[in-house]
Amino acid sequence: MSIIGKLAGPEAPCSEVTSLDCELFPRPWNLEQWGSLSRDRFLLFTWRSQESRLLGFALYGVAPGDDVAHLYKILLRPEYRGMGEAKAFWLAITERLRGRGYASVYLEVESLNHVAIRFYERAGFRHLRRVRSYYSDGGDALMMNLTL
Ligand SMILES: CC(C)(COP(=O)(O)OP(=O)(O)OC[C@H]1O[C@@H](n2cnc3c(N)ncnc32)[C@H](O)[C@@H]1OP(=O)(O)O)[C@@H](O)C(=O)NCCC(=O)NCCS
Repeated sequence: MSIIGKLAGPEAPCSEVTSLDCELFPRPWNLEQWGSLSRDRFLLFTWRSQESRLLGFALYGVAPGDDVAHLYKILLRPEYRGMGEAKAFWLAITERLRGRGYASVYLEVESLNHVAIRFYERAGFRHLRRVRSYYSDGGDALMMNLTL
């Protein structure tokens, strides 16, 4: 198995990232939500090909002085899924987070997103709890945690 992508970031959200989110994320953010991110409150990592094509991204919420990183979004283009790229991306990010002093990652994921849940379980996340009707359309969320 050969890995195509390379990690870049942290970086600022560019239109390439927001367009990919809009096109492919199950619950995309609008530009106002992207614009509301304060500079010291997020970390955005991208996964790019040798030619710098955006293959995916991961967005974390962080707070100064806190060692918990909140995973808001992780996404890979569909043609790069199921082939080890997501794992390589994930391992590269966690190394970067550890290097920055983060001790754990927290996330919520829609309870019907079985592929993502399986991916998180394989990455070592523990299930914390289910929050009923967490999303505006009534969908439940699962809260999960990973010690880095
Ligand atoms: C989340 C994401 C980055 C994971 O990348 P990926 O390449 O799909 O992940 P992998 O294939 O490495 O792992 C997914 C696991 O789910 C399993 N899986 C695949 N299809 C599945 C299905 N329909 N139901 C349950 N599990 C499934 C895979 O078999 C794999 O588990 P395994 O390694 O034990 O076989 C990618 O799916 C994605 O971009 N999804 C869209 C965005 C999203 O939903 N992000 C998460 C919310 S923040």
